[in-house]
Amino acid sequence: MANVPTLDIDGISVVYQTTQGPLLALRGLDLKIEKGQFVSVIGSSGCGKSTLLRVVSGLMPVSEGSAKLSGSAITGPRSDVGIVFQQPTLLPWKTVIENVLVPIRALGLPTANYRARAEELLELVGLGKFANHLPRELSGGMQQRAGIARGLIHDPAVLLMDEPFAALDALTRERMTMELQSIWLNTRKTVVFITHSIPEAVFLADKIVVLSGRPGTKVLEVPVDIARPRTLETLASPEFGKIANQLRQMLGASSAMH
Ligand SMILES: Nc1ncnc2c1ncn2[C@@H]1O[C@H](COP(=O)(O)OP(=O)(O)OP(=O)(O)O)[C@@H](O)[C@H]1O
Ligand SMILES: [Mg+2]
Repeated sequence: MANVPTLDIDGISVVYQTTQGPLLALRGLDLKIEKGQFVSVIGSSGCGKSTLLRVVSGLMPVSEGSAKLSGSAITGPRSDVGIVFQQPTLLPWKTVIENVLVPIRALGLPTANYRARAEELLELVGLGKFANHLPRELSGGMQQRAGIARGLIHDPAVLLMDEPFAALDALTRERMTMELQSIWLNTRKTVVFITHSIPEAVFLADKIVVLSGRPGTKVLEVPVDIARPRTLETLASPEFGKIANQLRQMLGASSAMH
């Protein structure tokens, strides 16, 4: 089968049952992502970005349409997917390193084989000294970074990231963006990266998908053909500015604040 996209989302709609009745979160959304592609998803608050990630991670069924990963319908959580949630959701009674190892336990793999890798990843996200601390002893941004290490521990082919840098200070955010680019350059994972930051979306992506306000549907897809590795100078280049401006116009003045 030539050219089957790794992620193949075709006309999905998602409905939540709420206390106030059914709520349409996504409507007729199409999204194709090739193997090894880095795709940023951007859109206003409440437009369904996390819902889309829930569908791809197998945590939320679709009401209409189909969602396939590597050729098969997504029916539940799978071992080739890593997720970095919008909220870090660490287990409060487990140490940071034990939290990073949670996907390994869930997959029934021997944690002893992954401890060194967990330490490496904690080092990478700047938490080397906090491996044996409890989550409540970490700041929000530190917990979020532990969540990033947890998403990478089983070396998934597909990485889903829901605003992973939202709680970080500007410098740490910049450093983590650079780290993510080098992880991607080294591993060529298929990445779906949700963000509110236009510069972050452009800097990292091969392609940017813009969602409309709720119910979310795709309103624009922009390829980013800027050479890699991208550097801080890239941020000042005309080609970068052109794409960022296009997105800013599409998203309206409110999102341009980010
Ligand atoms: N568990 C839920 N039950 C009911 N409705 C929900 C649930 N989760 C989300 N929604 C609704 O679905 C819509 C989309 O939510 P979602 O969390 O996907 O938005 P988002 O784009 O990720 O927003 P944000 O940028 O604020 O994180 C929202 O209008 C919200 O009210
Ligand atoms: Mg969200």
